[in-house]
Amino acid sequence: MCGIVGYTGYREAYPILIKGLHRLEYRGYDSAGTAIYDDKSRELNIYKAKGKVSDLEKAAMGHNHCGSLGIAHTRWATHGHPNETNAHPHVSETGQLTIVHNGIIENYIILRDQLKDKGYHFKSETDTEVLVQLIQYVMDSHNTDLVTSVRLALEKVIGAYAILVVDTKNPDTLVAARKSSPMVIGIGENNCEFFIASDASPIIEYTNRMVYLEDEQIAVCHRGEALQIIALDNSEVAVNVKKVNLDLSMLDKGGYPHFMLKEIHDQPQCIRDCMRGRIVQDGKRIVLSAVTEHREELLKAKRIIIVSCGTSWHAGLIGKLLIEQFCRIPVEVAYASEFRYSDPVIDSNDIVIAISQSGETADTLAAIQLASEHGALIFGIVNVVGSSIARASDTGTYIHVGPEIGVASTKAFTGQVTVLTMIALAVGRERGTVSEEKYSSLINELLTIPELMEKVLAQDEKIKLIAQQYATSHNMLYLGRAYNYPVALEGALKLKEISYIHAEGYPAAEMKHGPIALVDENMPVVFIATHHKLYEKILSNMQEVIARKGKVLAIVTEGDETIKGMAENIIEVPQVDNSLAPLLTVLPLQMLAYHVAVAKGLDVDQPRNLAKSVTVE
Ligand code: M6R
Repeated sequence: MCGIVGYTGYREAYPILIKGLHRLEYRGYDSAGTAIYDDKSRELNIYKAKGKVSDLEKAAMGHNHCGSLGIAHTRWATHGHPNETNAHPHVSETGQLTIVHNGIIENYIILRDQLKDKGYHFKSETDTEVLVQLIQYVMDSHNTDLVTSVRLALEKVIGAYAILVVDTKNPDTLVAARKSSPMVIGIGENNCEFFIASDASPIIEYTNRMVYLEDEQIAVCHRGEALQIIALDNSEVAVNVKKVNLDLSMLDKGGYPHFMLKEIHDQPQCIRDCMRGRIVQDGKRIVLSAVTEHREELLKAKRIIIVSCGTSWHAGLIGKLLIEQFCRIPVEVAYASEFRYSDPVIDSNDIVIAISQSGETADTLAAIQLASEHGALIFGIVNVVGSSIARASDTGTYIHVGPEIGVASTKAFTGQVTVLTMIALAVGRERGTVSEEKYSSLINELLTIPELMEKVLAQDEKIKLIAQQYATSHNMLYLGRAYNYPVALEGALKLKEISYIHAEGYPAAEMKHGPIALVDENMPVVFIATHHKLYEKILSNMQEVIARKGKVLAIVTEGDETIKGMAENIIEVPQVDNSLAPLLTVLPLQMLAYHVAVAKGLDVDQPRNLAKSVTVE
């Protein structure tokens, strides 16, 4: 987490850095800071503030922030409280070097103690200050330039980092380095300026020529000179410039009060974009290049393992049901964080699917690196093009839903489920495990999903009114079965993360094995009870809750008169095949969580303690 931005060139750095920080605020927002070198006064002016980037702007207002080289940071605290002292940038004791950092230096305590023994003093509680002091120590003791000092210092570091370092004695150059934390460098006209950031969003309005720094690489951005990249072993690395396409209009709220609401309402279009060019021949066939290219491996696969975190893990649970139903291949779904440390049994015939919106989640990345070492084929389902997981995968399918800014994932979830559905159908057809009839009817139905989503989203006002009834709740239960069980988990997660109401998702039939003890008149229970073969059984679960005075909110199939007579509130969704139901049933739960959080006056897009991209383990 944490977002970093840097600029060196001929323009004023401050507006570029501040705008960039706003774009990266989804990565962390407990404090922010900038350091800008003023070429005239030859001073580095540093401003920091606890809170959001807007607080930093207030702190810097009226002060000198002129200069055309600078670095900036928006923080998600790991080491040390979120306060001004711990905010980045951090400066070395002599004041010569200044750094911003995203990541964690795991051996910082040992390094700090060694530096303390050498007489260094520390102001903050951060691992980052240790790193800048270490670079300064190397520079002073070896009499080396900045690049060499950074390289030698990083050799001693264990952990993850994306760093930008400024040397006030050499103020034309920014040095960047990365390991396990993302870093993109945008190259301006004639190499006269460089834009550096944690992702492409702060860069794209200036240039689409970008270089994705790889692990253990150091970049030297010297205005007026060609970008130079070296590896940690000091070997020269070829600079690989890519043209990045990113629609700038996707980076604003488009008239909605919050990114989350915009992204909820964007879903019909996102799903159209996700299917475009993949459902071909007038809706008769699904063509995914990754499936075509790896047909043989997919045909002989004995097992698929899905690794992911959070919402992407919930999409993975739906993926398991889809792949097992249509491809008859056994699927395991693992939390990436558990998988990587569980000494997993991985075979070279296994296929490991990594699902990640950001493509930067540290645990998911580490999980696929481990699986790759065991020879498994890595298939990425990622949103952010060119992200670390996309690059670490052998093959994959982008979900193409556009940038997701709201911390609570919405459109990425439905995009992931759509891609998983297309993969399951395409592979199932190749394996002969899904009938031609089912294959065709599901494709046709999938193509109608965007329109059906619009119908569900049109109930936003109704859901807003329903949400007012739950804003004072302290706990909620979400129950579903089969394809709707992961949706129950996802609905509960959405509510928890933005409204801070404790919520649990459960398979409905498991309720009687414990959670039913929680049910009383103060326990709202959300049932996802659309028509499928277990409908009658879920009705019984609902009766059990009502008998104990639980208040029921039910997501039902259009026209369901039975539940209308039982539940306090119902929200209808159109009838679709069970396997496609999550694409519709999740929408009311996203809207419910959103409106509950708004009713509570909470910061929907930037909920406390969270960050969009979890690049630490
Ligand atoms: O970028 P990823 O999909 O890998 O992120 C995984 C989780 O951190 C993410 O889904 C998180 O749970 C969201 N905040 C949920 O809304």
